Amino acid sequence: MAYAAVMGYGTVGAGVVQVLTMNREIIARRTGEEIDIRYVLDLREFPGSPVEKILTHDFSDILNDPEVSVVVETMGGLKPAYEFTKQLLLAGKSVCTSNKELVAEHGVELMKIARENNVNYLFEASCGGGIPIIRVLNSSLTAERIEEVTGILNGTTNYILTSMTEQGKDFGQALAEAQEKGYAELHPEADVEGWDACRKIAILSSLAYGKHVPYGMIRTEGITSVDKTDIAYAEKIGCRIKLLATSRREKEGIWALVTPMMIGKENPLTAVDGVMNAVMVKGNAVGTTMYYGSGAGSLPTASAVVGDVIDCVKHPGKTIRNDYSGELQELLPADEIARPFFVRYTGTPEEAEKTFGKISDVVALPDHPEEIGFLTGMIAEKTFRELAGGDPRVKRWFRRGKNEEAEE
Ligand code: HSE
Repeated sequence: MAYAAVMGYGTVGAGVVQVLTMNREIIARRTGEEIDIRYVLDLREFPGSPVEKILTHDFSDILNDPEVSVVVETMGGLKPAYEFTKQLLLAGKSVCTSNKELVAEHGVELMKIARENNVNYLFEASCGGGIPIIRVLNSSLTAERIEEVTGILNGTTNYILTSMTEQGKDFGQALAEAQEKGYAELHPEADVEGWDACRKIAILSSLAYGKHVPYGMIRTEGITSVDKTDIAYAEKIGCRIKLLATSRREKEGIWALVTPMMIGKENPLTAVDGVMNAVMVKGNAVGTTMYYGSGAGSLPTASAVVGDVIDCVKHPGKTIRNDYSGELQELLPADEIARPFFVRYTGTPEEAEKTFGKISDVVALPDHPEEIGFLTGMIAEKTFRELAGGDPRVKRWFRRGKNEEAEE
């Protein structure tokens, strides 16, 4: 019998208890022993709940119990999760988490402490919820030199963009509906400003390329300024607007970016709708692979956490290796990347060509006779920004994902 504890009995913590309970026998068979939850730590009381008898408000109960070998951290945030995690690892207990803020901020240090104490700090649930994407990078695509990771890594924004696309809603209306349905938080900034996706691509990129990608270095743009006219233009040129989190290896180095991007229907990520997530990983031998599933929610996220717990129990006294070194990954400036841009323009195609050179896919919307939309050729972003900044007829623009971001 292995003993575990759960810190934080919220949506994911409760899911962890549920998965460990409902799949107890299957898990025991696969692990080689049963996994029993000895404590649930939470500030609140849960009278009448199945965890009432194992509930504690005292962290030291878990820290000082020599039989507890694995602890689930589903508290979220940095405080007190960071201190608790550190103390547990130093005490020789493995920690499995869904807390992407903590992994992105202190993951390097916590993994080092775990290694020094022959235990594990695992975080499969921190990226893509139930999609086992971290295991793909750490255990499956280990023969590969990873060239690119591109994903729809935030369910809230994907739900909002999908409902703007399918129901013609404005951002505000779509956000309000997502909040009503529980797909967006009351304070949705972390999601709609792209910060959540940024932390996730920082973690995935660090694992993919082997050096630490600090999330603060990634240019991040959210979806708050996307309007329904942008969506209508995207449709008109056969694209969809998706919030992509992407990083890619170039000859000169690695770049990373979180941005709403126009991607063509030939890109499978256009078919990822609603709250679903998907990640494409390109390796130098395998080519492009894709992983799809629920990026959030109690049971899917809990499933990923429990998978990590099982790995810890299967490898007692051993740190499972990954390629996430503490060395800093310098990023290429996102401005140097060349790609096509979609432009909304209050002028003629001839005027636009004077600014941008050859353009294509010129379209107009009946509701907006004062402007046109078009695609530029491949232009380095720095040059594009200078050209666009110098032409007052440029109303708005988007990056277009052609020949980039997991398209061959
Ligand atoms: N708010 C996140 C999302 C939850 O919408 O994807 C999972 O990390």
